[in-house]
Amino acid sequence: MKILTPATTANIGPGFDIFGLSYKYYDEFLVRPSNAFNMKNTDDKYNNEENLFFTAYKKVANALNIKEDKKCEVILENHYPFFRGLGSSAALIVAGAYAANNIYKEEIKKELTKDEIFKICTEIEGHPDNVAPCIYGGVNVSYIENDKIHRKQFFVNEKLHATVFIPSYETSTEEARRILKKEVNLKDAIKNVAHSIFLIDALVEGDLEKLKFAIEDTFHVPYRKNLIKDYDALKELCESIDKNNAFTISGSGSTCVCFSYEPVGATIKTVGAATEDVGAASCRPTEAECFPYNRDIKVLDLEFDKEGTKIIV
Ligand code: HSE
Repeated sequence: MKILTPATTANIGPGFDIFGLSYKYYDEFLVRPSNAFNMKNTDDKYNNEENLFFTAYKKVANALNIKEDKKCEVILENHYPFFRGLGSSAALIVAGAYAANNIYKEEIKKELTKDEIFKICTEIEGHPDNVAPCIYGGVNVSYIENDKIHRKQFFVNEKLHATVFIPSYETSTEEARRILKKEVNLKDAIKNVAHSIFLIDALVEGDLEKLKFAIEDTFHVPYRKNLIKDYDALKELCESIDKNNAFTISGSGSTCVCFSYEPVGATIKTVGAATEDVGAASCRPTEAECFPYNRDIKVLDLEFDKEGTKIIV
């Protein structure tokens, strides 16, 4: 079986730990039963039973009351990079959970529901904002209180597009959480509540001007942007293309995202191609994917995903 997990942007500005959306940009996990847990195409230090994929796999097996372990081998085709704020850890967890659910369902004629999987995956990840869009697709608002999941799904209006800027450098989610203030002031909290509501409205209505105002956050972006050395230059570049382009950090970074009416990646590349000193020869991805003013940033125009994780048997 092949499991396809979409990349995701958590937070989307003011929705810290609550909002997330998914892109048509997938990691692929080729999974087959085996007598030992093994993950190919990953760093040796992550190829062990304690990695996020196998942790989720075993938790789902446990929830299905499986006594005898059926292990599995995984060939990972990793497209969006780790530690860059595109939900790769949520994707590993969700893929592991889906793998176990599907391997066992033939045998015991029982499977977990998406909501049950969502709960298990969120327990492992610690917050639901990447896990929800990874599983369900679309824009998700999710919150767990007193063990009860509250989740609402929306879809981004087709007028809007997203461009992600993926730097070659990583950010650690742990550090990006450690630097945040543990308490927020009332004025900032009021602003984030208002912006959160208008953000969802703007995404659904496809209103870029409203999105531009609503995406401004007071909880995390002002602190985390200092961990992303290209943040200001990228924001300025996106706003120079259209003043209403809405820019923020994807998850805890280092990836940033720009929402726009016209995909900005295409525009940037066209401008770059006409610039003499571009010299894209050392681009790591493909030349066409490279940010022309900084060869270490991959620029991708992405479509929004509506379906979440898919299984191809
Ligand atoms: N909501 C999380 C954060 C997403 O911003 O820390 C990253 O895992």
